[in-house]
Order: sequence, then C-alpha cells, then structure tokens
Amino acid sequence: MGEVEIPGDKSISHRAVMLGSIAHGTTHVSGCLMGDDVRSTIGAFRAMGVDIVEHDNERLSIHGHGFGALRAPLGPLDMGNSGTSIRLLAGLLASAPFAVEMSGDDSLRRRPMRRVTEPLALMGANMRTTSQGTPPLHLSPGAMLTAIRYELPVASAQVKSALLLAGLHTTGLTTVVEPQATRDHTERMLRAFGVELVISGNEISLMGPQSLCAADIHVPRDISSAAFFLVAASLVEGSELTLRGIGINPTRTGVISILREMGANIRLFNETTKSGEPVADIQVNGAGLRGIDIPAQLIPSAIDEFPAIFIAAACAEGVTRLAGAGELRHKESDRIDAMAVGLRALGVEVITGADSIQVTGRNALSGGCTIESRGDHRIAMSFAMAALKCDRPLTILNCHAIGTSFPGFVRIAVQAGLRIEQS
Ligand code: S3P
Repeated sequence: MGEVEIPGDKSISHRAVMLGSIAHGTTHVSGCLMGDDVRSTIGAFRAMGVDIVEHDNERLSIHGHGFGALRAPLGPLDMGNSGTSIRLLAGLLASAPFAVEMSGDDSLRRRPMRRVTEPLALMGANMRTTSQGTPPLHLSPGAMLTAIRYELPVASAQVKSALLLAGLHTTGLTTVVEPQATRDHTERMLRAFGVELVISGNEISLMGPQSLCAADIHVPRDISSAAFFLVAASLVEGSELTLRGIGINPTRTGVISILREMGANIRLFNETTKSGEPVADIQVNGAGLRGIDIPAQLIPSAIDEFPAIFIAAACAEGVTRLAGAGELRHKESDRIDAMAVGLRALGVEVITGADSIQVTGRNALSGGCTIESRGDHRIAMSFAMAALKCDRPLTILNCHAIGTSFPGFVRIAVQAGLRIEQS
C-alpha cells in the first residue's frame, strides 16, 4: 500500500479558526483541514467581519482584532453539518452584543443542543432552540454572564469547549468538571494563544475576562481520518502503510489502543510536538484481528472512530462488544443503528442495545449489496473499507458528507490500493 497523506485535524482546525478570529493580530495556520465543516466555521467568522485569507497548501492567515471587533452577521449563520461549529460558537457568542441565529443541514437540525444551552443558560445566556432542543439556535444580544462551576453530565469536548469559550468573556472563575477526559485541543490551543488555564485532574478552570494574542498554529493530520486506513491496512494480509504527521494527542488515540488490543500491528515513530500537540508517523501492517470487549474508559478517546472499529470487528475472529456508548446515537447519524443495519446487510451478526453493540466477526463479508450511509461521512468511509473484505462490490449511498472531514478521500483511498469509483 505504501504511503498516503491524511488531511488536517478537523477539531484542531475549527479551534484555530475560532481562536485566531477573536485574537489580536494575525494568526497563521498551516495544515488546516479545508473540508466543508471548517469552511462553515470560516464562513461564520467572515460573516462577523473577520478577514480570513486562504493561501495554497492548506494555509490560512486570520486577521483578528479581538472578540469586541466581531460584528453582527447580516443573516443566520449556516453551520452546514458541523456540530463542533454550532456548539462551540454557542459558547463563544453567548455574550456577544448582537443577536445571532445558527442552523444547518437536516442532520445538524436533529442534533441535541440542550447539552450546551442548559449550562450556558445557568451562566445567564439567553438562547432559544426548537421545542425538541435542536437547531435553529437563537442567541439574544448583550447577556451579562456569570462564571459557574459545571459538572458535565456527559463526556463531551464540545460542551466543555463551549463553556470555556464563554468563560473567556465572563468575569470570574469558570470551571468545567469532566466525568472522563475528552479531547483537550481547546485547552492546549487557548494556552498557545496566551490564555491562562488551571488544569487539575478532570477539572479545568479559567479566570475571565482574558484576551488572546495571535499565534502560529500547525494543525496535525487527523487521526480520525487516519483510522479508516489503520483498519484497511490491518485487514489486508501482507500490506504495509505509512501515515505521516498524525496527531497522537492521548485524548484521541483510543483507536490505536483498541486496534492493538485486537491484534493490529501499529508502530508510532518520529514522535514530536507541534503547536502544543503531539504528532507522530504511523506504520501499520496487515495482521489477523480478534474480537475483544472494548474497555469503557477508551470510549471518549475513540468516540469518532467506532464506525471504523466496527468494520475491523466484523472481520475479526470472534466477538467484539462495546457497552456504555449511547453517545454514538447522537452523532451525525445514529451510528449504532447505521452500522448495525449496514453490517447485517454484509452478512454480519450484530446485536444492539440502547448504548451497546456486539459484532460477531466473519472470514469474508458478502458484497453485492447497497449500504445507506445516511449522509454521515464516517459511516460512508467505514463501509468503503469493508469493501476490501467483500466477495463482490459494494454500493454506498449518500456519500456527499465525506467532504466535511476528508476532502480527496476517494483519490487517497485509490492511492492506498482500494478500488473505488465515485458517481
Ligand atoms: C468534537 C468532539 C466530539 C466529537 C466531534 C468533535 C470536538 O463530540 O465526536 O466529532 O471537536 O470537540 P462530543 O463533544 O459531542 O463528544
């Protein structure tokens, strides 16, 4: 298989655009993911008057003049498919002196927003959703926020980040307590922009108000996108694939731990740190996989990679079980159901519960069928990897959302040796 180039990390790219837009000075971002989700964030800040210049080679210059320089957008902000954009901006804009309406596509308009609006309301924010707690989200102007200490009921980096971003412009100590550690890109990047945070175990505090100074940010390549190829290369006997410059932040590497426990042959080398984020090259070789009970403590650090992991499970020897993963039902699609339905179509035995899934592996998958990806990028890309083990071609429908996180996916997959056609 050789070597393929994975695009920039989606979570980190969003944060680079957001923090650069409210910082003072020019922020240079390299390795930025130019996918549809990050473009939604860029579009939102442009609509609020920020000058963001796109250069070649995934580079951006963001000319920030501070939070106070943001202007009222002329119309609603369209966040497309991006939960990270709408949830983080809910916090960031909670105290803006202008009204904002945010919405997005059909999938985003089904995503739960109360997990951010409830704690923000406790801070004094004035926001409104539909009666189901879904977008559109309306923010009223000029809320005077009060700093709070908040214990997150669910492990969510988006909610944690929304509260920390709200806390930046709130007088006093904002503290967020996590039930389990989630991705800490916001904390790391706030520090890169000069913000002082106190982190003690699962408690993160910041004393507001604080302003940000522009920074140079290098975005590592996305381990969530690399995950599809970690699985693909593992499934093909004799294969060897190298992925360079991948973010290996320990809050994101659950997929590596899980695949290794299943027997995958994954080696990290050239480890370094860039813009406060750990990065490494990864080599993966084909290996026989076995089913495991996935340890619950790995769920937050592998939360986006489960669709790919379930494909690995479907091709592993024995049974793989995951429990306590109800959050998977609230992603871009209900990922427990979408994966179960798709895998069953491939002849795989799958049992699901409210927050659990059990997959019994097989030697070969039956192809020749059609999989509905439900407009969920990670479901579509996961089943593309499953095709490697199918006896006949697979058709995967509704794949437009792949561009939200992995522009160029088909080209890169072909480069890695997969036989994919796009129509
Ligand atoms: C993200 C956090 C996670 C993850 C999402 C990106 C982020 O969501 O699933 O793809 O960038 O903060 P939750 O906060 O809902 O777990």
